[in-house]
Parts: sequence; C-alpha cells; structure tokens
Amino acid sequence: MADTESYAIAWLPGDGIGPEVTREALRVLEAVASTYGFAVAAEEHLMGGAALDETGTPFPDTTRDACLESNAVLLGAVGGPTWDDTTGDRRPESGLLALRKALGVYANLRPVIVPEALATASPLRPDRVGGTDILFVRELTGGIYFGTPEGPTEDGARSTMEYSGSEIERIAHVAFRRAQRRDGHVTSVDKANVLEVSELWRAVVTEVHDAHYSDVDLRHLYVDNAAMQVVRDPQQFDVVLTGNLFGDILSDLAAALPGSLGLLPSASVGGDVGLFEPVHGSAPDIAGQDVANPIGTILSAALLLDELGEPEAADAVRHGVDAALDAGFLTADLAEANEEAVSTSTFGREVANRAADHAPQNVPTL
Ligand code: IPM
Ligand code: MN
Repeated sequence: MADTESYAIAWLPGDGIGPEVTREALRVLEAVASTYGFAVAAEEHLMGGAALDETGTPFPDTTRDACLESNAVLLGAVGGPTWDDTTGDRRPESGLLALRKALGVYANLRPVIVPEALATASPLRPDRVGGTDILFVRELTGGIYFGTPEGPTEDGARSTMEYSGSEIERIAHVAFRRAQRRDGHVTSVDKANVLEVSELWRAVVTEVHDAHYSDVDLRHLYVDNAAMQVVRDPQQFDVVLTGNLFGDILSDLAAALPGSLGLLPSASVGGDVGLFEPVHGSAPDIAGQDVANPIGTILSAALLLDELGEPEAADAVRHGVDAALDAGFLTADLAEANEEAVSTSTFGREVANRAADHAPQNVPTL
C-alpha cells in the first residue's frame, strides 16, 4: 500500500469567532481528505490576544516555528475589545503582521464571488451583483503597514507608505499570471494623482505588463474611483491589483457585494508556507454562540487545498458549500426574517457531508 500523503496544518484559532469557524474548516478538510486519499494533521497553536494573555506576546516563537515547519497555516481571526488598550507590538493585530512577514507571504488573494443562491441577499440589486467574480491581489508585506512609523507623541505621529520597485514587480507578476488563467484583465489601483509611491507603482506595473503580458489587458484606476466602480458595476472587474492599505479597504467594501463579510476567504502566498484565513475579523459580539458564518474559513481551506496541489478536493469543498446553500441551509447573517438560521456547527457538518460525497471520477486504489 502506498503511503498516504499527510499534510501538517498549523492551526491558529486566535480570538473571538476564530476557534469556532476554523473548527468547521478543519471538519471539512478531514471529510474530503478521506475521499481524496490524503490525511491532515492539524496542530493547534496560540495566536493573537489569546497568545498575549497566555505568553505575553501575540505571536510567540513557538507558534512561528510551528508555522514555518508546517505545510500550511489555517488562521481564524485576531483582536477584540479586551485588547483595545494594547499598543505597539503587543497588539494582537501586530502579531498577525509579524506572522505574514515571517512567512514572507507578500501576495494576498481575495476572491469575491456572488453565489447564485445569495444574489438576493446582497444590499445591491441582484442584476448588478449576479455573476460578480473578482480576484483582489493585495500586496501584503509592504506599504504603509510596514513603513517607518514615529509616535504617537504629543507632537504628532507618522506612518509612511513605502514600496521598492522589486516589491511592486513581484506582486504585479502574481496578478498578471492569475489574469492569464481567468478573463485576462487586470485593474491596477493606486493614487498616482497624489502619492509619489503610487507614481512608482503605476510605472512598474506598466513596465511588467509591457515586457511580459501583452495577452492581458491592463488599466489603471485611482482608488477613490475604484471604490465607486466596485459598488456601481462590479461585473467590470476581473483581477484587481493593489497595495496593502487600498487592498484592505477595497476587499471589505467588496464583501458587501455578496451581502456578508462572513463569506469571503483569503490565501496569502509567495513564501514557502501559505497562510489561509477568512477576510472577516474576530466578531467579538457573536463569539462563542455558534452563530458565526464559517463559509469564509471553509473556502479558505479550499484555497489551502489548491495551494497544496489538491485541486479536486478543493473543488469538492466549494461544491459542498454551494450544495449546502442550495439545500437552504443559511447562517444567521444570511437568513431573511422569514427564514430559519442554522448554527455554525450544523452548517459545517452539512458542508462536510456534501463535500465528502462529491467523489472524484477516478478514486485512487489504495
Ligand atoms: C485583514 C485585517 C488585517 C489587515 C488586520 C487585522 C491587521 O483587517 O486581514 O484585512 O488590516 O490586514
Ligand atoms: Mn481588513
């Protein structure tokens, strides 16, 4: 009997709803693993506020080492009101930035798709959002998040937006390559009418395009206009390439298109080990109640499988989510007043069963 491939997952539940949504994603991973002939070995580690409380730092060395030795990292969320008064590198969020930096995951991929079953849940008209399929490619380890800060002191504070040409170049390649496998359009978003760093951004993106990707269409939008266009006519976008801060803001904005921030997954890649986490935060107001929407995290697990080279299992996970929605299962954020909502764990089980039953055409004989 051939050895079954076993993937080591560093599991960082983090804070708020992080533990409950990642638990469901692991349930789904385990369910498809047996169908698709591999194993997952998840090991839990402290991260964020939970780590700060226990160890005095939001990103302990033991967690860093475990992540670097794993095949992939699955993260829930970090932060919450308990830690609002922490500052500097004690903030749970700064632990997350340190994790991204330690893994070298400079490319954050945030797909925004509006599932058929949910077009009516959108705050926008279904005919405007139906068919939306955008991939945000957000630079993740540079820009104003990692500039040279000063203060705050009584005199003021400073955050600087910095990009080197090579940082822009490598993320541009990611966006163009993704576009080649999709609809062949890249919209690069900047603020080149005001910011010098955006002037460089625009020049480098154009250079990379002209030298290597004549088969891809490139256009540039200013970030304020891009924000309006995402809401006015989301169907015009294929790949959106942008920096760390603009990508953070635009991806939350785009989350309004399918009607819930709970739906959106993300993959952060570019280093040796990928980081997979939902776009949403720790939602402390609903934590521990088994009502959160686990879809963003479950779909992050699908991206994790794609990245590990298990695309069929990844498709089975996506199928499981669609099938559970089509069967009428909805978490509280998605249910209309006249519809019954199911719990986080019930939804996770419904997805896991459907994903596991979605058998590959050629089941490998063991
Ligand atoms: C995100 C989050 C993080 C970010 C925070 C928690 C540091 O908002 O992943 O979008 O700003 O990158
Ligand atoms: Mn964000």
